[in-house]
Amino acid sequence: MKISRPIGIFDSGMGGLTVVKEVIRYLPDEDIVYFGDTARVPYGPKSKDTIIRFSIENILFLLRHEVKMIIIACNTSSSVALSIVEQNFKVPIMGVITPGALEAVRLTKNKRIGVIGTRTTVKSGAYEQQILRAAPGMKVYSVACPLFVPLVEEGWVKTPITREIVQTYLAPLKTRGVDTVVLGCTHYPLLKTMIQEVMGKGVTLVDSARQVARQARIILEQEQLLADKRKGRREAVRFFVSDEPENFALNGQRFLGFPLRNVTKEPHV
Ligand code: DGL
Repeated sequence: MKISRPIGIFDSGMGGLTVVKEVIRYLPDEDIVYFGDTARVPYGPKSKDTIIRFSIENILFLLRHEVKMIIIACNTSSSVALSIVEQNFKVPIMGVITPGALEAVRLTKNKRIGVIGTRTTVKSGAYEQQILRAAPGMKVYSVACPLFVPLVEEGWVKTPITREIVQTYLAPLKTRGVDTVVLGCTHYPLLKTMIQEVMGKGVTLVDSARQVARQARIILEQEQLLADKRKGRREAVRFFVSDEPENFALNGQRFLGFPLRNVTKEPHV
């Protein structure tokens, strides 16, 4: 397989750009093809079967772009579809659950870990399974926070209303005395400051996007697929979306940290 091929990353929408940001940081020489399924977002409240079907379609789309590996940036999709799709395709496919879970196990001191995510992610129990597989003695408390995604997409990351909602959702985790919380959704890193304020200084937040990028590097090294050092400047990331690209380009900037160019609408179904 050619090392110059791009890495494929998909998400239900723009949230996966938090993963793209970290992949660019840890793998600056790699080309990236990103697919955001903006026509069908959100995945968070949808059923397992539907998300598996969408995920397979997204993978087939990325394979048409000859990617050398695929990162499922969406926590919801990773939690219900990864175990199915990883056996059925030749390229390495990784999700965001295991890297985040292992980091939480490494960081906790009191062995009490909180996990926050969409309804489907929490219902799947995927984070809990991975945490307990790595360290059976852990106590894991999971809370679905379905309002966080729309709040972040509205840009309401510092408003009093959001603070109240964050306090309400996280109250059970405070009661349980967790010392580590996994941000188990693409959008939650944007609420990091507020979540940290509400949970208190003593609690460590695990941003799975960062761990995913580290793990992707390890996989590429193992598979001998790491790209050569980049020569000169060129456009390294191409973005595809299944709905209109304007909103994605405009709002995606908040997730990615810099303006997005190269956004193309390409419905794949
Ligand atoms: N990308 C999803 C996740 O990480 C959040 C948005 C959605 O519900 O589709 O779970």
